[in-house]
This record gives sequence, C-alpha cells and structure tokens, in this order.
Amino acid sequence: MKVVVVVASQTGRTARMADAVAEGARDAGAEASVLRAEDAGPEHLESADAVVLGSGVHMGGMESSMRAFFERVAHLWMQGSLVGKLGAAFVSAGAGARGGAELTLLGLLANLAEHGMLLVPMHNRLEGFESAGCHWGPVAWTNPRNGQAGPTSDHLAACRAHGRWVAEQVARMGAG
Ligand SMILES: Cc1cc2nc3c(=O)[nH]c(=O)nc-3n(C[C@H](O)[C@H](O)[C@H](O)COP(=O)(O)O)c2cc1C
Repeated sequence: MKVVVVVASQTGRTARMADAVAEGARDAGAEASVLRAEDAGPEHLESADAVVLGSGVHMGGMESSMRAFFERVAHLWMQGSLVGKLGAAFVSAGAGARGGAELTLLGLLANLAEHGMLLVPMHNRLEGFESAGCHWGPVAWTNPRNGQAGPTSDHLAACRAHGRWVAEQVARMGAG
C-alpha cells in the first residue's frame, strides 16, 4: 500500500509536518514518500493508494505551488484516474486570528473530492487532536500569540497519528 504526501512549504514548517504524516503511514505498514508540490506530477498520484496534501497558509488559502500542482494534474479528472483513492490534508498557519487554516484545509480537500477521492477527516480520538486537531485535518500554529511556535511535538504527534489513520483506512478497504 502506497501513501504519497505532497507538500507546499516555503520555510520548512509544513514540510516537517509532512515527514511526520509519512512516518505515521509507515507505522501502519505503508510505503510512504514525501514530494514537494513543485516536483510532483500525475504519475505520483496515479501510483498511490492515498494522497495526503499539506500547505502553508498564504493569504487565507493554499500556497501557489500547490495550486499550480493541481492545475498540472487536472487532466486526471478527465480520465477519472484518482476515483476511489483516499485523500487527506494538513496545514500550517501563522496565528489563529489571521485566519485561513480551515479554509485552506477545505480548499485542499475540495480538490481531492473533485477527483472523486474518498476523504479521510481527522477524528477527535486521535493523538494530538486537542492541540493540533481540526476535523478536516491537523493544523500547526507557527506564530501563536501565546505558547510555543509550531510545529510543536504535539502538532507533529497529531500529524503522525493522522498519517497512520489514513494508511489504516487504505488497509481496511483492501487497497494496495
Ligand atoms: C505570503 C504569506 C502569506 C501568509 N498568509 C497567512 C494567512 O493568511 N494566514 C495565516 O495564518 N498565516 C499566513 N502566513 C504564515 C504562514 O502560513 C506560516 O508561516 C506557515 O507556517 C508557513 O509554512 P511553511 O514554513 O511551510 O512555508 C503567510 C505567510 C506568507 C509568507
């Protein structure tokens, strides 16, 4: 079973989350790889059983390299190549009050839904949910007004738990 994590990360914080998601998927027995959005292409999605997308929040939405990636693989929609694969998302954002984390998660998931993928949200029993949990996926706050800048160990634990959860769902569906 193959899990591909595609990440858009200008200053490396979301990339650390991506590594934790991949580690979690490996914990569940998956072969997991992390690709930067700039380097990812259709072949990486076609060969995956699950795709997990991560992005830094830029101006209330996903980073432009992630948007460009979606546009590069849009033809897969015509072919229906990703229908039935599993998809999930995570983000890192500055401070809560600046906004955009939830919107960005939804934007990422919407692209996966458009391809007919089955979305895996983050449930509230997963490790790390209390500090990094959002029902759409893990969030790391990297410039909070109070507390430690993320991704903290709790944020990374949430990412790892979510990666494991996604891979477990692939196994449960008998894919891969
Ligand atoms: C151009 C730009 C726009 C940003 N816009 C937002 C924003 O709208 N909301 C927010 O919470 N953080 C915003 N941030 C902060 C980033 O989301 C945050 O630093 C994130 O952790 C960066 O992830 P990265 O290290 O993976 O690039 C912005 C950062 C940049 C560089």
